[in-house]
Amino acid sequence: MTTVPVNTISEFRSITSFLPNGWCLTSHANEFSVGETSTDRTVVISPFRFAPVEMTTAHEPRTRKSFNMGWKFFLGDEPGAKSPAFTDSKWRKLTLPHDWSIEGKFDEKNPAKPEGGGLPTGIGWYRKEFIAPANFQSRLITVEFDGVYKNSEVWINGKYLGKRPYGYSSFSYEIGKYLKAGKNIIAVKVDNSAQPDSRWYSGSGIYRNVWLTSTAKIAVAKWGTSVRADFVKANAKDVHYPDPHAIVEINTKIINETGRIQSADVIEKIYDPNGKLVSNLTYNVKKLGKEQDMSTKLFDLKNPMLWSVENPNQYKLVTQILQNGKIIDSYETKFGIRSFNFDAAKGFSLNGKPMKIYGVCLHHDLGALGAAVNVRAMERQLEIMKEMGVNAIRTAHNPPAPEFLDLCDRMGFLVMDEAFDMWAKKKTKNDYHLNFPEWHKRDLEDMVLRDRNHPSIILWSIGNEIREQFDSTGIALTKELVSIVKNLDTSRPVISALTETDSTKNFIYQAKALDIYGLNYNHKKYADFQENYPGVKFLATETTSGLQTRGFYDTADTIRRWPRDGKTKFVEGNKEWSASSYDNVSAYWGSTHEETWAAAKKYDHVSGLFVWTGFDYLGEPLPYPWPARSSYFGIVDLAGFPKDSYYMYQSEWTNKPVLHILPHWNWEQGKSIEVWAYYNNADEVELYLNGKSLGKKIKQNDDLHVLWNVNFEPGTLKAISRKNGKEVLVREVKTAGAPAKIELIADRKNIKADGKDLSFITVRILDENGNVVPNADNLVDFKVEGSGFIAGVDNGFQASLEPFKANYRKAFHGLCLAILQSTEKSGNIKLTATSNGLSSSSITINTEK
Ligand code: GAL
Repeated sequence: MTTVPVNTISEFRSITSFLPNGWCLTSHANEFSVGETSTDRTVVISPFRFAPVEMTTAHEPRTRKSFNMGWKFFLGDEPGAKSPAFTDSKWRKLTLPHDWSIEGKFDEKNPAKPEGGGLPTGIGWYRKEFIAPANFQSRLITVEFDGVYKNSEVWINGKYLGKRPYGYSSFSYEIGKYLKAGKNIIAVKVDNSAQPDSRWYSGSGIYRNVWLTSTAKIAVAKWGTSVRADFVKANAKDVHYPDPHAIVEINTKIINETGRIQSADVIEKIYDPNGKLVSNLTYNVKKLGKEQDMSTKLFDLKNPMLWSVENPNQYKLVTQILQNGKIIDSYETKFGIRSFNFDAAKGFSLNGKPMKIYGVCLHHDLGALGAAVNVRAMERQLEIMKEMGVNAIRTAHNPPAPEFLDLCDRMGFLVMDEAFDMWAKKKTKNDYHLNFPEWHKRDLEDMVLRDRNHPSIILWSIGNEIREQFDSTGIALTKELVSIVKNLDTSRPVISALTETDSTKNFIYQAKALDIYGLNYNHKKYADFQENYPGVKFLATETTSGLQTRGFYDTADTIRRWPRDGKTKFVEGNKEWSASSYDNVSAYWGSTHEETWAAAKKYDHVSGLFVWTGFDYLGEPLPYPWPARSSYFGIVDLAGFPKDSYYMYQSEWTNKPVLHILPHWNWEQGKSIEVWAYYNNADEVELYLNGKSLGKKIKQNDDLHVLWNVNFEPGTLKAISRKNGKEVLVREVKTAGAPAKIELIADRKNIKADGKDLSFITVRILDENGNVVPNADNLVDFKVEGSGFIAGVDNGFQASLEPFKANYRKAFHGLCLAILQSTEKSGNIKLTATSNGLSSSSITINTEK
């Protein structure tokens, strides 16, 4: 009998896949149960029936496996934990990605302060015991971290591998040379203790995915392919290229860690979005040194399927390295074919078609899930944005998780990929300015190398509201950072989000190195930008900063700026810690949603805008002090429930028919209430109260909504939009009675049993007639049975101090949210919601492999 150790399910699968047809494992295989990782599990196989794994793996192409399972965690400092001899038996077992801050309690005294989300930070240690991959001596074994917040330090078997201060960079270590047969220990220290640090919630821990990669010693380098695919329109006059076609330029870097000069064959294969091989090139490298760039390879693809926001077609490059006819590496790079242009007068165009950038800024947190990466949670955010009409995302103010960019490629979003929120001059005492001098080159290069093949990315941003704008050191630094980017990628413009509008005082602008003028706020400067900056391309990199709380309406008829000016820090807190959803409040440096969009939409030279922000995010609870702990800026609240302005954008940014009325219809008798309607695809809207017409309204000039002043009386408010006299849409809001029952609505009823997938359950408090009760704040208790658990709860209230990891939540303005996560066992998840005095409700979600 031979014993082959297995560490993960995928290793198990890859071993079993070697078995010839009809042969099988003799025993124990079924002991390896899904969801558990243990280093001492073994698959026992018969010796004569199994070609030794070692003989095949030395030449086997690369494998890249999740390294997320089987970690132990300790919150606190434990310097001895780097040593392999350390006992971690009492430590908590967990699966990555993991953010310890989100599990903690809100407290005003937490060093991250409300600005950082008011949750605990500190130091944490992670350890994992694992068995070295097969034949590790003859291979390159790399552990890849997509992101650790922050100051990670890594040891393998007690040997120090290095540190990485910036919490948003992806990094890796080659560990093959330190591995030994049998058990190995990796230890990671994460230090987020120096506060205040971030101006928003960062999360703490190994909050992105970790991978273990095994390749031959000759392999494509990490991030070693660069594919530039420009679309060229048909041109009948061009005798060589009359058809629409794409020039695909491929640069590949190969590493050779064998210690000798070698020769190899390289094949570059291009597959179209349907999986059809459309181009194929083989070349030979006679003298392959330690690290070598191949010469540029050019491909000409006729009538390509373009990548666009509507049809995000992706091609695939497969780079193979062969020796003696055997494939020793195979590396996939997805890419898209598109062309885009920023024009100083006409703005942005994609594939030759004019198109305004309808963008939002997003921070990386996933609400109740914190910073811990979850692909479904990110996908849901993007779905909600797409539905609103958003076509672009600014990753404020740092490189995002790689999966986020994959989603943008796949779902059709343009991306402004941003590197930094500060350079050498600080915004807070312990922020990245401390690391900038030593690390900025490496961090910026790594962002570009990692992300350059994503078709979604159209802009590299070297920084947000950087202090060096106001200081002559800004000139040299801007030039340096732009050249770092351009050395690696010249196919995209480089931008920085500026605030100083007087160009003579703006030293980043003075460097004359940026391709586009990126302006934050200052929407009144759009009108004469072209006169002031002739021939300069323009993008509104950040706008608005409107303040709203979902479901809260305060009908003051003037627009308010909270805070009022630079001297005032907070507004006098209203007792609700809320801001009106009428779109009549913004920060003093910003403007309301309507003020901003009306300005941006008017001018073609404004290539587009990125509204601050798509979603509320943890931290930066301006304009309120504690207990406010998350932002009011989102068009959608932290739980994912749209505020009313969502529909203003939807009516402007999409072609689908929209009619949305606000506010709710539960007021004091006789009170005068402004009723607003956002609409499109119609000539007019008529409003009725209890069947009686209150008149027709039509948007005039720059109007983005219509309104009626209505004396409240209970009943039904009904709006009808009409085009050419024909009804387009009807919307009704009814006066709700007392809370009577709970309704549960799942965004998806069938999810994957992969231990990661989520079903977002909206909990609505209804009266006995099924109307949402607009001010209901009932406490809802949750019970979960079956193959899942509650990953988080929320209600979108910016000043709630209830924990996100809990089996209860108070409703807020009639709604709350429970996020269900699958286990790796397929079956059903049953969620039951109960609340005192209300009839309870349950819902069942199906999970499948
Ligand atoms: C901007 C800044 C953002 C956010 C926003 C709030 O100036 O770039 O990060 O702080 O203000 O209004």
